[in-house]
Amino acid sequence: MSFTPSRILVTGGAGFIGSNYLLHCVPSYPAAQFVNLDLLTYAGNLANLRQIESLENYHFERGDVADPVFIRSLFERWQFDTVVHFAAESHVDRSILDPGEFVRTNVTGTLTLLQAAKEAWKDRFDECRFHHISTDEVFGSLGLEGEFREDTAYAPRSPYAASKAAADHLVRSFGTTYGFPYVMTNTSNNYGPFQFPEKLIPLVIRNASERKEIPVYGKGENIRDWLYVTDHCEALDLVLRQAATEDTFLIGGSQEVTNLDLVHLLLDVYDRQTSNEPGRSRELIRFVGDRPGHDFRYALDSSPIQNRLGWTPKHDLTSGLEATVAWYLDNQEWMDAIFGKDYLAYYEVQYGNR
Ligand code: NAD
Ligand code: DAU
Repeated sequence: MSFTPSRILVTGGAGFIGSNYLLHCVPSYPAAQFVNLDLLTYAGNLANLRQIESLENYHFERGDVADPVFIRSLFERWQFDTVVHFAAESHVDRSILDPGEFVRTNVTGTLTLLQAAKEAWKDRFDECRFHHISTDEVFGSLGLEGEFREDTAYAPRSPYAASKAAADHLVRSFGTTYGFPYVMTNTSNNYGPFQFPEKLIPLVIRNASERKEIPVYGKGENIRDWLYVTDHCEALDLVLRQAATEDTFLIGGSQEVTNLDLVHLLLDVYDRQTSNEPGRSRELIRFVGDRPGHDFRYALDSSPIQNRLGWTPKHDLTSGLEATVAWYLDNQEWMDAIFGKDYLAYYEVQYGNR
């Protein structure tokens, strides 16, 4: 089974993963038209897309996925046959401070897109496809053993995870109820170029470069599985084109590590690349109050996408961290521009609460 997308709506394409996806796909498929719909919230940044912004098959539309009138008009104007839906509020700590925005964007926004696509595609479901991008957090928290699989029951624990779980359920309900053509992917922690510096890895790099304290929640014992973002984007491209309708694939990097070990590895790479004395940046680590409801561990069984679609990640944690630190050191201006946004104020509020 293969699907050839031709008029593609990418939501949230100015964010971290969406922009990496567009940078990968737009030059690779010149015969396809890509429309990036993004509201440009604090997390969206058009500077991420400079390499492709002048290509003829790339277009930008600013707007809100939760605005039904605007979304319907976009479908009429562009006649999409494909939606790749990244747009979301994506930061767990923010969802703890302000869950409402997560329900509006992640739940209402997804429903708005589903309704517009269902209406626009009603006579041609077999020619169209909605790729919903989701997270491993919908499955909840693991102990030291075990892995999530496609059929693991949902058990979200943060407002962010609950809003993503609700969106996933809506997508599947459209498949079951209306025969709506979707594919879904749930992915582990991504890292790499263009990630907003509220997330652990770019935050550590930024703070190391400014000689600021590096906050590690709790004892740093929580475990995450890290996936380099371009490996994720290659997997997404395969799923969109090769998966069967209603397939779900889990995409993980199989690179599990505790947060404290990750921060140590990252700071050692940082010190090497900046010719610091070994261990200099580790002095900045500070243990701070834990995230409320902090999920202990995520791990994914990625064997189905490896066996059925032939995907393997090109980066392990070592090569991925080397590439990531090098990218942030080469792109200080990008980071400075990001810091011009509301980030610092948010950071203070966050730490005021700990
Ligand atoms: P991000 O926060 O970096 O980017 C989100 C983008 O969505 C931004 O460009 C923002 O402007 C846009 N957006 C937000 N609200 C919008 C709205 N109402 N209308 C239109 N655009 C809006 O997020 P990310 O890390 O790139 O994550 C992308 C997707 O991948 C999300 O659905 C997230 O749940 C999922 N995901 C992320 C990770 C990860 O590690 N980052 C892992 C698994 C799944
Ligand atoms: O698992 C996929 C999810 O990964 C995505 O769905 C989310 O969108 C994405 O943000 C990410 O969620 P996490 O909460 O795992 O990522 P974050 O970078 O915020 O935190 C990673 C781990 O590091 C987590 O255990 C919390 C911890 N942490 C985080 C920050 C920001 C710290 O110890 N200190 C920090 O300052």
